[in-house]
Amino acid sequence: MNDDRYIPALSYHALTPLYDTVVGWTTRERLFKDALVEHARITAGHSVLDLGCGTGTLALLIHEQEPQAGVVGIDGDSKILGIAKKKARHRNVAVRYVQAMSFDLPYEDESFDRVVSSLFFHHLSEKSKARSLAEARRVLKSDGELHIADWGKPANLLMKLGSRFIQVLDGSETTKDNFEGRLPDMVVQEGFVEVEETDFFNSLFGTIRLLKAVKET
Ligand SMILES: C[S@@+](CC[C@H](N)C(=O)[O-])C[C@H]1O[C@@H](n2cnc3c(N)ncnc32)[C@H](O)[C@@H]1O
Repeated sequence: MNDDRYIPALSYHALTPLYDTVVGWTTRERLFKDALVEHARITAGHSVLDLGCGTGTLALLIHEQEPQAGVVGIDGDSKILGIAKKKARHRNVAVRYVQAMSFDLPYEDESFDRVVSSLFFHHLSEKSKARSLAEARRVLKSDGELHIADWGKPANLLMKLGSRFIQVLDGSETTKDNFEGRLPDMVVQEGFVEVEETDFFNSLFGTIRLLKAVKET
């Protein structure tokens, strides 16, 4: 059970159809998602899980760059998964989408080589972040990697000002861990090793930071 408020992609279900346009225009999306895929070093035969996949942009990018990897995206929102499935159908690609919650993943232990996630963890309360990271670790194989791109500590005053918008849109309760730069420590607390920031990108609404972490052998 989880009593947290569920925060949809743009905070309100009515705005979901606008998601790709808004994120594309405001976050330098292609740049930071390409960087995440590059850092994840996904190869043929890898199984990859995208947590909070939304409209499936990241999952499609992964498929595009390594068609021999098996990619599955999970999201709690059936409406946004409808958009993701439509995009996959249009491109005729075999990315799978499943409705599921990040803190209760419907997968066996050690099922994936990579767990990836973008612009997702700031939607979760501190408790749900911890539970979702623990689930990510559980479903990763030994030596498997977690790659997260999400709002982090603003790189400068301008980024701090921009991040106010996300704090208002998604609420300060779930975004504060991100903007205070606590996500890397939370990843360490859930037992990951070699936790490091691999990149960062300044955007209209703040600094997006990329994290890499490993499930120890
Ligand atoms: C801002 S969107 C990010 C979508 C996508 N990853 C991207 O980069 O464009 C956050 C997504 O997380 C989903 N979400 C929020 N809480 C969730 C949870 N606990 N489990 C699964 N999905 C969740 C929302 O439905 C939404 O699609």
